[in-house]
Amino acid sequence: MTHSELPSADGVWEHLRIAPGALADDRAIDADAAIVVADGRIAWIGAGVALPGDFAGLPRFDGADALATPGLVDCHTHLVYGGQRANEFAMRLAGATYEEVAKAGGGIVSSVRATRDADEDTLYAQAARRLEQLLADGVCAIEIKSGYGLALEHERKQLRVARRLGETHGVTVRTTFLGAHALPPEYAGRSGDYIDLVCNEMLPALAAERLVDAVDVFCERIAFSLAETERVFQAAGALGLPVKLHAEQLSDMGGAALAARYGALSCDHIEHLSAEGIAAMREAGTVAVLLPGAYYTLRDTHLPPIEALRAAGVPMAVSTDHNPGTSPALSLLLMVNMACTLFRLTVPEALAGVTRHAARALGLQDTHGTLAVGRPADFVLWQLRESAELAYWFGQRPARTIVRQGRIASM
Ligand code: NIG
Ligand code: FE
Repeated sequence: MTHSELPSADGVWEHLRIAPGALADDRAIDADAAIVVADGRIAWIGAGVALPGDFAGLPRFDGADALATPGLVDCHTHLVYGGQRANEFAMRLAGATYEEVAKAGGGIVSSVRATRDADEDTLYAQAARRLEQLLADGVCAIEIKSGYGLALEHERKQLRVARRLGETHGVTVRTTFLGAHALPPEYAGRSGDYIDLVCNEMLPALAAERLVDAVDVFCERIAFSLAETERVFQAAGALGLPVKLHAEQLSDMGGAALAARYGALSCDHIEHLSAEGIAAMREAGTVAVLLPGAYYTLRDTHLPPIEALRAAGVPMAVSTDHNPGTSPALSLLLMVNMACTLFRLTVPEALAGVTRHAARALGLQDTHGTLAVGRPADFVLWQLRESAELAYWFGQRPARTIVRQGRIASM
């Protein structure tokens, strides 16, 4: 069934509890709350006893004391790609590092081969199955990056699939152009020329086709330098597009401070983020996106500087980083659990990380990540006693009703 065929959620959703941190205005309603949906948007939200009379005639949905949260936001994914890389998982278990796998012709470039070989419909079908897993966890908005095409037609193919997924599945998709993800083999030894291609041809063409909502770079020893990253940021700025960065994942390149200077929406990974990087991010209002799935898969031991980020008041988001190399994860709730267990986030921090701060990392803070009147009806009603259970259970999916873009997507 396509999203447009799903039943409308218009009506009064009653007998709810609103989870702490769920409301944009920070009110807490811990019993008998109601959410009114009209024309696919939130028309009213508050204590059931205060429900205005004009809504009295609308259809009623009994929430059965469920805990309501905003739809979750997965703010960093590489969801569209060909093939898979379980062989590299095995290589790393046998002792190879991520960098060694990449140098041996595996890594990102092996997904590039498979993505170039796949046609658009095949990429769509494979990504749709993965997306449906994420949606089942209550995801209502998702970022999808390119970066496995590394040539205009193949980057275009990825981004077109991302847009199509948003339409067929009734989910908010933000596309990010990650042409500077890895050096394609045909440009070996000519990374300056490849960055020219990214800045002068690929990005302007794809932006003109309205396929690009933001621009990202993998700034790392095994990827692109600080100077190359800055060139891509300048090209994005010239087109009025916001930037974000894969920053300080394997080493401190100074990428976060650079990104902050360009007003980046987010810096992501940041295991090796420095004090200067944190200060620059705080100044710029840049979100720190934590990716425990990649940390876990790479058996990394260098923790991101959580305590310093917290002390500086830098908003922290949490995401799957779904990709075939370092994070084949398809559950955002599992990432919530791992952010708490591995990174020591508190439960409220981790939940804010997949809602309000994740929305901010995509520039969607005015429409997603918290519940408020006038916003699209994207919310999840969980059959749970307390919100800590969203972080606590793992390996099972709690019972829930999902309202996405004003339709009942799961009940
Ligand atoms: O976010 N760090 C770079 N990019 C991805 C990994 C991509 C891959 O290995 O295919 C990431 O972890
Ligand atoms: Fe990534």
